[in-house]
Amino acid sequence: MMDLKEVEESLKEELQKAESLSQLQQVKAKYLGKNGLITQAIDHIKNLPPEERREYGRRVNQLKEKAEELLREREEDIKKSELQKRLSEEWFDLSVPLEPATGTLHPLSLTLRRIKGIFLSMGFAVIEGPEVELEAYNFDMLNIPKDHPARDMQDTFYVNKEGYLLRTHTSPVQIRTMLSHKPPIYIVAPGKVYRRDDDPTHSPMFHQVEGLAVDKDLSFGHMKYTIETFLRSFFETDVPVRFRASYFPFTEPSAEVDIGCVICQGEGCRVCKQTGWLEVMGCGMVHPVVLENCGIDAEVYQGFAFGMGVERLAMLYFGIDNIKLFFENDIRFLKQFR
Ligand code: PHE
Repeated sequence: MMDLKEVEESLKEELQKAESLSQLQQVKAKYLGKNGLITQAIDHIKNLPPEERREYGRRVNQLKEKAEELLREREEDIKKSELQKRLSEEWFDLSVPLEPATGTLHPLSLTLRRIKGIFLSMGFAVIEGPEVELEAYNFDMLNIPKDHPARDMQDTFYVNKEGYLLRTHTSPVQIRTMLSHKPPIYIVAPGKVYRRDDDPTHSPMFHQVEGLAVDKDLSFGHMKYTIETFLRSFFETDVPVRFRASYFPFTEPSAEVDIGCVICQGEGCRVCKQTGWLEVMGCGMVHPVVLENCGIDAEVYQGFAFGMGVERLAMLYFGIDNIKLFFENDIRFLKQFR
């Protein structure tokens, strides 16, 4: 016969030593399992003489209840301390400043957005045309004769289909717009253009923004005001602007627009080739032949048009000296623009 007092004492001792739920499970099996000590003691009752059964049975049952209670208590304790342990090990310092890895817009996207924003605020609509263009729209209808140097194989990328090419400028969008819309027309057309050019300031693909206004009573003065307002808004200062007589087959008169060098403030530097001026766009009054090619009566309507290089403006605005940086997509370069 077992000493029940001893069983209780050893159970208490083992419960204290048990530090995990799995160890506790072993203790439970040892005492209350199928062949557990207390289970055996209960089995033993039936072997006792009747006069001892009552007292012994009562004590065994008390012990069993006590054992169950002690196991429950110990289980609670172990669960609590396991939780404490996890809480002290698994934690986040919420006061550490986090810098979320957000993307940045490409400097050309930022520049295009600003250009579009300025023209939208002046009442121009933004439209787009295709990059694979009809030779007729890119050249013929813009009054660029068949023997014009711009058509030279050296400059133009032709595609594998008779009569098509990669547009060399955004000016064909002028033709598309005038063919499909009646004046008044006030649009800007941003997009990619292609030329067989490749050096630190020329890339075979680059971006232009074309501008076109067609209305009654439009003069060179309206164009000059529009372009000056745009440039001062874009460069966020009162830059000097000058219009220099030039030639484009699709405008008459034509001009090249210069701004006072934003790098040296007109003193003369490497970027402006010591002239103090930077060429930023071409412009002019739409040639009457071009208006008539598109079915617009040149006796009634006048137009002005301009075309600017987006990379050129972005390089001057951000102070970037190599056009290739825009297309290499080096994250250290791109990250600097917001
Ligand atoms: N298309 C001309 C170019 O690419 C620029 C231009 C546009 C000039 C509109 C005058 C009017 O050089």
